[in-house]
Amino acid sequence: MTNSSNAAGAPKRTAVQIRGLRKVYRTRGRSVVGVDHVDLDVGAGELVVLLGPSGCGKTTLLRSVAGLETPDLGEISIDGKLVFSSSQKKALPPEDRHLGMMFQSYALWPHMTVFQNVSYPLTSLEPSARGDIKARVHDVLTKLGVAGFEERFPSELSGGQQQRVALARALIGKPSVILFDEPLSNVDAKVRRRLRQQLRDLKQETKFSGIYVTHDQEEAMELADTLAVMDAGNIRQLGTGREVYERPNSLYVAGFVGEVNFWPAELVGVGPHVAHARTDFGTFEIIGATASMQVGQKGHLAIRPERVNIGAPGAPVADPAPRVRGKVREVVFLGARCEVRIELPGAEVMAWLFEAVSHRSPPVAGGAVDVIFEPGSLQWLPA
Ligand SMILES: Nc1ncnc2c1ncn2[C@@H]1O[C@H](COP(=O)(O)OP(=O)(O)OP(=O)(O)O)[C@@H](O)[C@H]1O
Ligand SMILES: [Mg+2]
Repeated sequence: MTNSSNAAGAPKRTAVQIRGLRKVYRTRGRSVVGVDHVDLDVGAGELVVLLGPSGCGKTTLLRSVAGLETPDLGEISIDGKLVFSSSQKKALPPEDRHLGMMFQSYALWPHMTVFQNVSYPLTSLEPSARGDIKARVHDVLTKLGVAGFEERFPSELSGGQQQRVALARALIGKPSVILFDEPLSNVDAKVRRRLRQQLRDLKQETKFSGIYVTHDQEEAMELADTLAVMDAGNIRQLGTGREVYERPNSLYVAGFVGEVNFWPAELVGVGPHVAHARTDFGTFEIIGATASMQVGQKGHLAIRPERVNIGAPGAPVADPAPRVRGKVREVVFLGARCEVRIELPGAEVMAWLFEAVSHRSPPVAGGAVDVIFEPGSLQWLPA
């Protein structure tokens, strides 16, 4: 997280500290901003996941930390040691940064055996720090369930096995910081799930810190201690997966992390704790007004589909929840949930009903329903 002090004010050990990072690529007379104004702290034992669309600068940020790109501006420290500073004209080469890396584009070396691939990072260590190389390779391969493949070449392994070997190579030097760039994007969904679980176990066991890049929102939520949602070279929001999901600071973030219903709206009342937003289909209360909210402000009213319920028209509900009369357009059964698309005056809303609810009173297309917004779930997202 961004604060580098704990509650008592004592400095927290920071695994990676990035300040004011900017990297512009210049090719054939054109400038492309890779990252700009990025500040990020990764605490000891923390995994920060960078999530964002293609081209938003995730790889650039990671390669800058690794020393594979030279940023234009900023500073990077690893384990308290300055490894890059534009003002001090300092840039340590990658091998002096002592990081573990598992990059999609850093596939295994095809001409080396599994043993040679995995033991390679140890060869850059002082001989006294290498230990019993054979035993270390065996240990890490056993931990990852790929012992016994030492003499094979990468082409003689499945995709999932190759990724495990690549992970073994990233872990073997016991780096305190590991950088991952979409390490699981080439393996099928089932293997990916297993590898994610294994990564979580390994993290608990070895307490490594790291930065992990992915496009996959579920993977991001599952692995992140802290999630950083990026857009066009910047970090748009930083927080736990739950914070980012439940309190997105913009429509961009809300839409990038999960599904969201949203409608153009205007603030027509702002009190100390509650605000009111007007939409085409009614005016609604928003709990938790903030200082930046002002009457007349335009933006969006938003709610997650799992916070939208439906009931028979006019039927009483236990909580006085905001409701709107609508007409069911479509019901899609997806096993664990039912997705119900409902027409409102001048708008549409998606409700996700989970098994128990949809079983009791299954909605039917064409029927009139009351759309019920769970109390406290409507949010204001500034334009
Ligand atoms: N070597 C390069 N030369 C010129 N422009 C580059 C270079 N590498 C990246 N860029 C540009 O910098 C921006 C950020 O790229 P980056 O590779 O960091 O994105 P990314 O978030 O990792 O995307 P993806 O999810 O597709 O991997 C993009 O606009 C990209 O086109
Ligand atoms: Mg990338």
